[in-house]
Amino acid sequence: MGLLSFSFFALWVLEIVAAQPKTEPREVDAINKIIDHWNLRSKLNLTDDPCNQNASWAATTANPRIACDCSDTVCHITHLKIYALDVYGEIPQELFLLTELMDLNLNQNVINGSIPRAIGQLSKMEYLAMGINNLTGPVPSELGNMTKLLSLSFGSNNLQGNLPPELGKLTALQQLYIDSSGVSGPIPHELSNLKSLQILWASDNRLTGKIPEFLGTFKGLKVLRLEGTNLEGPIPGSFRTLTKLEDLRISDLDASDNSLDFVENLTSLSILSLRNCQIGGKIPEKLSAFPNLKILDLSFNKLTGQIPASFKNFSSLEYLYLGSNNLNGDLPSDVISPKLIALDVSFNPFTGNVPPDRKDISINVVGTSINDVNLKNEEASMLHCLQGNTKCRIKDPSTSFSVNCGGTEQVSENGIKYDDDSNILGAASLYTSTNNQWAVSSSGIFISNPNGPRYKVETDTQITNTLDSELYKTARISPNSLRYYGLGLENGVYQIELHFAEIQMDDSTSWKGLGRRLFDVYIQGKKVLEDFNILSEAGGSKKALIKTFNANVTNSVMDIHLLWAGKGTCCIPFQSTYGPLVSAIHVSQVSEFKDLSGSKKNRTGKILGIAIGCGVGLLIACSILYVWWAKKEPGHMRIPVDSPRKD
Ligand SMILES: *[C@@H]1O[C@H](CO)[C@@H](O)[C@H](O)[C@H]1NC(C)=O
Ligand SMILES: *[C@@H]1O[C@H](CO)[C@@H](O)[C@H](O)[C@H]1NC(C)=O
Ligand SMILES: *[C@@H]1O[C@H](CO)[C@@H](O)[C@H](O)[C@H]1NC(C)=O
Ligand SMILES: *[C@@H]1O[C@H](CO)[C@@H](O)[C@H](O)[C@H]1NC(C)=O
Ligand SMILES: *[C@@H]1O[C@H](CO)[C@@H](O)[C@H](O)[C@H]1NC(C)=O
Ligand SMILES: *[C@@H]1O[C@H](CO)[C@@H](O)[C@H](O)[C@H]1NC(C)=O
Ligand SMILES: *[C@@H]1O[C@H](CO)[C@@H](O)[C@H](O)[C@H]1NC(C)=O
Ligand SMILES: *[C@@H]1O[C@H](CO)[C@@H](O)[C@H](O)[C@H]1NC(C)=O
Repeated sequence: MGLLSFSFFALWVLEIVAAQPKTEPREVDAINKIIDHWNLRSKLNLTDDPCNQNASWAATTANPRIACDCSDTVCHITHLKIYALDVYGEIPQELFLLTELMDLNLNQNVINGSIPRAIGQLSKMEYLAMGINNLTGPVPSELGNMTKLLSLSFGSNNLQGNLPPELGKLTALQQLYIDSSGVSGPIPHELSNLKSLQILWASDNRLTGKIPEFLGTFKGLKVLRLEGTNLEGPIPGSFRTLTKLEDLRISDLDASDNSLDFVENLTSLSILSLRNCQIGGKIPEKLSAFPNLKILDLSFNKLTGQIPASFKNFSSLEYLYLGSNNLNGDLPSDVISPKLIALDVSFNPFTGNVPPDRKDISINVVGTSINDVNLKNEEASMLHCLQGNTKCRIKDPSTSFSVNCGGTEQVSENGIKYDDDSNILGAASLYTSTNNQWAVSSSGIFISNPNGPRYKVETDTQITNTLDSELYKTARISPNSLRYYGLGLENGVYQIELHFAEIQMDDSTSWKGLGRRLFDVYIQGKKVLEDFNILSEAGGSKKALIKTFNANVTNSVMDIHLLWAGKGTCCIPFQSTYGPLVSAIHVSQVSEFKDLSGSKKNRTGKILGIAIGCGVGLLIACSILYVWWAKKEPGHMRIPVDSPRKD
């Protein structure tokens, strides 16, 4: 009896199995060749028909995953996912025999070679993801054949050449991710046809020309990222109608003046980051009525006027960055809106006081005339020297300082004591060392990982190329601006040693080794490193590298500024891995100013004149002016010879 019913059951099962059509033999052959080509047999052992719905690889969470459409008399492979499995080697031609594919996810591998032109044969594709790989060569124009595409990504690769105009045929496209892809040149006008676009990530590319006006006609645009490109302003006036925009990030625009007039009606914004975009004019009052605005970063622009009184009315604002502008007036005593976490007003000619009810908000007022009751008198007066308008006289000047950035006190092999700098910094912090010899400020928020490392990182791995491994096992990081200030220094010529070791990024053969960190370094306002890449210059991860510079202290302060200019990958090996990183700093006096031509007094007079002449609080502008002046006076002042620039 039991046996009989079992046989019936078995028969019934067999029938069902037989009822499912088999996969098109050509596709079975192709998928097996792909599996062998990418060495995936151990992870995807196709013991059965690839389209068997009950196979382990068909589950929605499976990786690798194959899924099919069996509505016909034969099954066709429609979905293929090989995600973050470190497959390497080129894209095999057999892939293009899977002509019914509509979803191909090859993200986060180390696939190399170029994107074959035959990819255009996959004309049913809706989702195509090739981001974070090691692809080279051009973006094939045949991608334009995939007119059903809804989402296309080839970001974080090493592609070359221009974006093909044929991409303009992808009129259904909603998401385009091409950040850090390697593309260059002008954005083709044909892309104006991508009217369905909702998300465009195009940061960290060498795209040139003006920001296209047509972007303002993509009425559904929600996310636009154009940080660290070679694009020029102005920000097109057409952007004024992009009322669905939630996340707008543009940085480091050359030429052309911009104003903020266009944001007036962009009330859906939750992130507005327009750093170093040559934006002048006033801050629009209406911003404070944007109900979702959480991050507002307008730092490194030319904004004038005051902080609008309406700013106390922000309902969602958490991070407000207004540093390095030309804003003035009293800091409003009620500037702290209910949800504010960080406020940076540094390097503006502001006056007034830090609001007494600051709670545990991190506030940076360096380079302003704002009084911060939390600062000791001595620190406050030394930090005032950073304003550039006061000639500072220090009672007992020092001639050196050393910092173990992000770490605890260490004595190096050659006997130098590096001070503790292990304090937790906030999103707009200033910390002054206990000996008052230096201070550090960090400004910015790792947007995609706000609860990540609090602006310092560490590793257990031994650091090579140095006898001082411990010094490099900790480092300060910052998503935007990281500044070390030497305080109370005797005026004179100084040597600055910056110690670096890449400890967040990998140099393995995994996709985790594909990250690129790029940032700039300014010393006393002069750019000494541009697009600096620690890992490539040190020849690997966890390898020490010391860069040495000379600079002069003329007003008791030294300003070492590490700044992110939107370049490099964003998220390898994990979210928010970018921006400046520094392991240790050692600054020491080389000589006092020598009275070479008897013109010392004369020179000091001129420097002071410039400093006062260029106004209150504008250290950067003053430094530029100062360097310009120094250039014009070859007999007296010279730019440091050491200005390494790596390409
Ligand atoms: C898949 O499994 C389900 C239940 O687990 C079963 O009902 C179905 O018949 C199976 N299909 C095939 C094709 O094996
Ligand atoms: C694949 O599965 C078959 C049958 O279960 C087995 O004999 C074979 O060893 C497996 N191959 C790999 C590479 O795991
Ligand atoms: C791709 O990488 C493989 C090794 O993983 C290498 O043999 C091959 O030459 C590379 N192809 C190209 C085009 O660089
Ligand atoms: C474009 O797609 C069609 C099928 O829709 C195909 O016949 C043609 O070969 C493809 N062209 C290219 C350049 O891949
Ligand atoms: C914002 O909307 C109002 C009302 O529709 C309109 O008058 C104004 O011109 C718009 N502002 C911008 C900058 O487009
Ligand atoms: C702030 O909001 C309150 C309540 O909505 C309103 O009355 C006031 O005018 C606003 N203040 C400013 C300066 O906009
Ligand atoms: C990427 O390809 C380059 C050659 O183009 C090679 O030097 C590098 O090692 C590859 N990266 C990884 C992580 O495989
Ligand atoms: C620093 O001062 C020295 C000595 O006065 C001078 O030779 C040099 O050019 C100065 N460097 C800069 C960058 O001004």
